[in-house]
This record gives sequence, C-alpha cells and structure tokens, in this order.
Amino acid sequence: MNDNLLWYKNAIFYELYVRAFNDSRGDGHGDLRGVVEKLDYVKELGVDCIWLLPIYPSPLEDDGYDIADYYGVHADYGTIEDFKALVNAAHERDIRVIADLVLNHTSDQHPWFQAARAGRNSKYRDYYVWSDTKDKYQDVRIIFLDTEESNWTWDETAGQYFWHRFYSSQPDLNYDNPQVHAEMFKVMKFWLDLGIDGFRADAVPYLYEREGTNCENLPETHAFLKKLRAFMDKYYPGRILLCEANQWPEDVRPYFGDGDEFHMGFHFPVMPRIYMAIRSGDGTPVIDILNRTPTIPDNCQWCTFLRNHDELTLEMVTEEERQWMWQEYAPEPRMRLNLGIRRRLAPLLDNDRRKIELANSLLFTLPGVPIVYYGDEIGMGDNVWLSDRNGVRTPMQWDASPNAGFSKADGDLYAPVIDDAVFGYQKVNVEVQRADSDSLYHTIKAMIAAKKQSAALQNGDFFWVEGDGNKSILAYLRSADKDSVLVVQNLSADEQVLTLKLPAGVPEKLKDILSEKEISVSGDSGLSLTLQPFEYLWLQI
Ligand code: NOJ
Repeated sequence: MNDNLLWYKNAIFYELYVRAFNDSRGDGHGDLRGVVEKLDYVKELGVDCIWLLPIYPSPLEDDGYDIADYYGVHADYGTIEDFKALVNAAHERDIRVIADLVLNHTSDQHPWFQAARAGRNSKYRDYYVWSDTKDKYQDVRIIFLDTEESNWTWDETAGQYFWHRFYSSQPDLNYDNPQVHAEMFKVMKFWLDLGIDGFRADAVPYLYEREGTNCENLPETHAFLKKLRAFMDKYYPGRILLCEANQWPEDVRPYFGDGDEFHMGFHFPVMPRIYMAIRSGDGTPVIDILNRTPTIPDNCQWCTFLRNHDELTLEMVTEEERQWMWQEYAPEPRMRLNLGIRRRLAPLLDNDRRKIELANSLLFTLPGVPIVYYGDEIGMGDNVWLSDRNGVRTPMQWDASPNAGFSKADGDLYAPVIDDAVFGYQKVNVEVQRADSDSLYHTIKAMIAAKKQSAALQNGDFFWVEGDGNKSILAYLRSADKDSVLVVQNLSADEQVLTLKLPAGVPEKLKDILSEKEISVSGDSGLSLTLQPFEYLWLQI
C-alpha cells in the first residue's frame, strides 16, 4: 500500500452501506464477504478508500448508529474474521477502509445503559447524562424533529430522565466521565489493531453539555477530540479521523485545530448550494459559501459530497432557502424528513444526465476530496415509500437478474430493489453501464481518473475566474506547480456565450481533459466560449 502519511489529501472515497452492497450468503442482507467479492469493481472505479456504515451489533433503531457492542460485527454482516478478511483484501488492492466511530451515544440496549438504568450505584450510571427534571439545556435544538419531542426521555427503570440528541433509543454518553474517554480509546485501539485505516467520527459536535449554551462545538469537545488525534498520531500514524460536524464553515474550522485535531472534515454547507445553483442557474450560493470558508492547515482536507445515506440536509441554509429547496426538490411531503430531503442524486436532478454530470463536475473539481455514495455512480433511484432514510439505502443494482444481482435469496430482501420504469434494476445496473462506454458509470470513472492525474485538481490553489458577470457561469482555476486546470461550467438550461478573463501567458489552444476537444483562445488573453445548457469543461492549461 502507498505509505504516504498524507494519502487522504488526494484520495477518492466511496461510501458503502454493507447491507445494501452484496449478499454473499443468500439471506437477503448484504455482508462483509459480499463486499470482498465486489472490491474489484470499487477498484476499477478508481476508489482509494471505502467508508463502511456501522457494522456493529445493534438493534438497528438507527440502522447501526445505535451500537450495542463496540467490539463485534452484526450477525447479518458476518464476523470479526470476515472484517479482517475485508481489510486484507482491500489492502491487497491498495484500497483503504474506514468505518464509523459513534462517540456521542450508544443504543439503549448496550450493556452499559442496561446497567446504568438498573441502579444508581452502578459504575455505569455516570456513563450517561441523567436528570430529575427536563429543565436543563433548554437552548438545545432537536435534530430528529419528525420523531422526537425533547432531548430528554423518562426512563421508568432508572427513575430519571436521560439525555439524547438523536432517537430516544440512543442515550448520549457522558463525556464528563473520564471512564467514557477510556472506553473510547479502547474501542479505537481494537479496530486499529485489526488494521482499519481510520474512522468517520459521527456526530462530534454534541459530546458535552453545558448550561446556557446550545451544547454544540464546546471547547471541552475540542479538547477531547485533540486527545483522540494525539493517540492516533502516536500509535497509528497514517490512519485518519474524518469529522462529521454538520455546521457552518467557521464552526467546522476549529475541528481541524492547528492540524492536530481532525485530518478531514465534511463540507456540509456547500452541498445544498450545488443543488441551489443547478436549479436556479445561478452560482452565487456556491461562490458565497466558498468565500466564507476559512483556510485549513496543510495537513488537513475537506470532504465534499453530493449525497449520502441520510436525508439531504438543509440545516446549513437559511429558512427561506430551505423552503425554496423543499418546493423545488421535494414537492411531495413524503420526500421530506426532519430538515431535509430523502431522495437520491439522480431523481433529484430529474434523471437528467447533463445535470447529474454537472453536479459531479463540481464535486470533482471544487477544493476537497470527493466521497461518492454507492449507486450514485450509476444513477440509482430511490423509494420514497420506505420509511425514515431507507429509501436511499436500497440494494445495489449489479445486473438485470432477479434481485438485481445483489442476492440469491428466494425470500424477501432487507429492502425491495428499485423496480420502477425509470430507475428499475432491469435498466439501471452496473453490468449494462460497464458495457456501454457512453454510460454515467464511464463518465464518473473518467472524472475520477482525470482528477487522479491532475495535481491541480487534487490539491491545487483555487481562484475564481470572472465570466462577464454572467451568474450562470461558474468558472475557476485550480493550479499547482506546473499544472493548471480551468474549470468552466454552465449552470443554466440555456446556451451561454461568454468571454473569460484569463491570466497572462495562457496558450492559444486549450484542451478539455475529458473530451479532448480543443478550444482556441482569442486575443488579449480572453477566452470566448459558447457553452451548451449544463455543459462543463475542464481545460488543461
Ligand atoms: C449521523 C449519521 O449520519 C446518521 O445516519 C445518524 O442517524 C446520526 N448521526 C446519529 O448517529
């Protein structure tokens, strides 16, 4: 495996839901051995690191984000041996593996919580946050708005209320208790010793509670996270921590510390703005949020994404923008969940190939490294009739055989395969798209390959390029040492004619990296262009 300690700065990530990916045992649930069978596919796409959604024993009230045992594998997914086999098989292919580390809460079925609720004198009582009243921390918002009325839930056995930021089946751990810290170091060590390459740390803003605050991003939280990082650096250099903090850029910035907290952090706010820009034909929201994004230390990296396993979150937009996004992208109430939209990329973008490619063009050329959500590389659809976020977690569509090639089960799958006229597996599947060089799959693969070959697109400096004040054009230069790429994108459904102001010394002919089309630069370092609706160009300079 490539031993560059900063490997994550240039990596392509793939978010993989084990239950949905490939069922090796024919029981209707994807499993770890199933993932092993498909690693060549992941490799072929150009992926450097897979992120596994929670694989631990769990009652699955929140699809595994409610952990009942940090040291095992859910029986549906296999065993610890299978996990080791997956890590080895991935490493043989130069693919790294990270998994969720859920620090903030456990399942209420976890033995710690069971012991805690059973007795005030149990040493586990203080692992959680209890109160005799619901009066504390009144300034704290509720995240799962559609189901939870309060962050406090009464526990009959305990005779007290317990604190939870997510479902009431997910009691928050008490980070004021040093024992809890020690437990988490132990958990990390266990998985790191099995060879895992790092963690996507779930819900980190919420670890501590302090009266009079919104209990998010507290200094105590950062102090603890820095300890996790120091531990990783000392014993496991080259393994990473990826921060899930759904916050404004200025509030995510401290999670990078001085390069001594997280290696990477999701850029949540840019994501909905990509959809806003494509729907309104106006790049201003993307420009504004990137201009508002602070620089980060050299050893850190942003993670960008278009979709993931959750609802498309609209927490980091204004109330007005949220209403507009709902109106445009979630016209039916069942498409909405909490403060978001529970749909996949392709249906959101009207299954319009031009818009899907354009969104991916932004994903692969804006600063940061991309995470592709499984199935979006073939334009999979969703099922809004399934509850919660399950509609975007349906089985991967491998081919047109029964069960989409996902499973040999005779009975029910964990969720039905998508079977409608537009997105059904008979039409939308890996086999068909691999065989068709014009497919979305091949376009995404080509974008990934192009990014991997370009120092500019990986970590180049970023500059906006002025395009006649035309708001439908989003243009920027990425440049590293001897490599520069000019990215020009038409966000609108109309043809755009424009002249871009280019820096001096630009050659007379520029080549689009993806199509190999040549474009001539007119005099005075101006570039006159006509862009088709939703067209994008990655011009090598
Ligand atoms: C964020 C995860 O992405 C989401 O799926 C989960 O429900 C919450 N954290 C709680 O763990």
